[in-house]
Amino acid sequence: MKNKKQENILLAEMTNKEFLVKNRCAIHAVEAKLEMIDAELSMKEGRMIINSVTSRIKQPESAKAKLIKKGYHVTFQNAVEKLNDIAGIRVVCTYLDDIYAISSMLKKHKDIIVLKEKDYIKNTKVSGYRSLHLIVQVPIYFHDANQNIRVEVQLRTVAMDFWAGLDHQLRYKKSKKETALIGSELKKYAEIIKEVDEKMLKLRHEIEAI
Ligand code: GTP
Ligand code: MG
Repeated sequence: MKNKKQENILLAEMTNKEFLVKNRCAIHAVEAKLEMIDAELSMKEGRMIINSVTSRIKQPESAKAKLIKKGYHVTFQNAVEKLNDIAGIRVVCTYLDDIYAISSMLKKHKDIIVLKEKDYIKNTKVSGYRSLHLIVQVPIYFHDANQNIRVEVQLRTVAMDFWAGLDHQLRYKKSKKETALIGSELKKYAEIIKEVDEKMLKLRHEIEAI
């Protein structure tokens, strides 16, 4: 009974206008920085850097599932305190080195604090998943006060994004037997994609040197 009440509060709070607006503002603030970084890098390199930037605010149902998975009580307070990806941004670029260039430039912004960095490119996940994750904190001005909001920024190449999309789809399937089989095949492609990413970068460097 108490649990159900807490879940209802979570649902109400996470769909509350002020909560959504604050998270939206934090996303916009980081996106504005990414736009500046993209403009500067594109100018410097003379080519396209960021292919796409997408964002989302976590759905209450998904926050609930993640709290359960992590062993926390399903409460709004836990969602805000324990989850780092209520506000999320995904940056897709063409080359491996772009990921690190963008990340290092974002870190230079004075009002951005990096709380956590997970490099699943250097340390590929068991699934085969590769991306660079930054949990950043950004200040927003709201109700006459500065408030800090956390945003998860996922940076990956087009190839990594292609892979992660299919892997994500597979994760939602229920049949254990078939998903395991497809999962291990998919893992092989993660390795091939890693090679392709590295070779494309090497070729780009060779072409640039001509
Ligand atoms: P969860 O793994 O979702 O509990 O998140 P976490 O807070 O432990 O952080 P982690 O860095 O593992 O994952 C954060 C996000 O990265 C996830 O919500 C997904 O968007 C993405 N991600 C992590 N692992 C995988 C994976 O194996 N496949 C895919 N497609 N996405 C992944
Ligand atoms: Mg995880």
